[in-house]
Amino acid sequence: MKLRQLVIGLLSAGFAMAALAQQPLVIKFSHVVAQDTPKGKASEFFAKRAGELTGGKVKVEVYANSTLFKDKEEMEALQLGAVQMLAPSLAKFGPLGAREFEVFDLPFIFDNSEQLHMVTTGAVGAQLFAKLETKGIKGLAYWDNGFKSFSANKPLKAPADFKGQKMRIQSSKVLESQMRAVGAIPQVMAFSEVYQALQTGVVDGTENPHSNLYTQKMHEVQKHMTVTDHGYLGYAVITNKKFWDGLPADVRGQLETAMKEATTYANKIAKEENDGALEKVRASGKTQVYMPTPAERLALKKAMVPVHKEMESRIGKDVIDAVYKATGFDPGKL
Ligand code: LMR
Repeated sequence: MKLRQLVIGLLSAGFAMAALAQQPLVIKFSHVVAQDTPKGKASEFFAKRAGELTGGKVKVEVYANSTLFKDKEEMEALQLGAVQMLAPSLAKFGPLGAREFEVFDLPFIFDNSEQLHMVTTGAVGAQLFAKLETKGIKGLAYWDNGFKSFSANKPLKAPADFKGQKMRIQSSKVLESQMRAVGAIPQVMAFSEVYQALQTGVVDGTENPHSNLYTQKMHEVQKHMTVTDHGYLGYAVITNKKFWDGLPADVRGQLETAMKEATTYANKIAKEENDGALEKVRASGKTQVYMPTPAERLALKKAMVPVHKEMESRIGKDVIDAVYKATGFDPGKL
């Protein structure tokens, strides 16, 4: 009788362990934008491929639109292990002590995504990810969103038009300096709060790629938008280093493959998504979309490029120079 009980006990323990072994490992991936954006779509793509490539051993749960964590909280949650993956904008790493990331925010430093990719896939991109490791964070990939436009309730054509405008910015000192360079009043605010702040007049305007502006319905509460392409907004996909290093090697390899595929996908759709969003903003008739003349854009560039020099001590002259070298940008020749 005792032997029978022992056998039954051992068998059920075995079944329980097998069932446990079949439980997928859950990875929570939190972000702040809408699902229908380059980052939203790329994170869903990654989740799907992660499930497929690991044969169901990993389940990536994507939480969009700040439903799990907002901007500031999400970085802390990652370090504490309450969430496993994020893709914050490159403009949001300063508060973490990784100020070099703000090089991507310098106005007019990139003319196009090709130049940007030369930097992210080169020595600077690797150097910035190495810096994150000292904070217990591992950088997995850089994902594009795109170039930003300014919006407000008045037309913003010349630098003087920005004077006194309260402009919402991300938590970047470079963006703060960019706004001050044209006499605007910068206000740092979480992405999840921007729509309401624009609606209630807490701020007058903001800057973002069109996909963010449209999917957050900012165009419904902004009368004017100028397509300036004055700065880049992209993402670093990051994870908790301890968590990542602790994964079984085969699973980690499969997730790396899924991330590679998701990166190709993200960078492929980003421009189409932003162009499509611009058309939708135009079609809505709620925001007047203005295309600046080359002379107007140059005037804005001349007003904002001094920010590069001003921010040297914060970002590091070596980092800025390395970007200039990769892209061919010469602040002396405007
Ligand atoms: C913002 O806060 O304006 C954007 O960076 C949000 C995002 O993640 O694209």
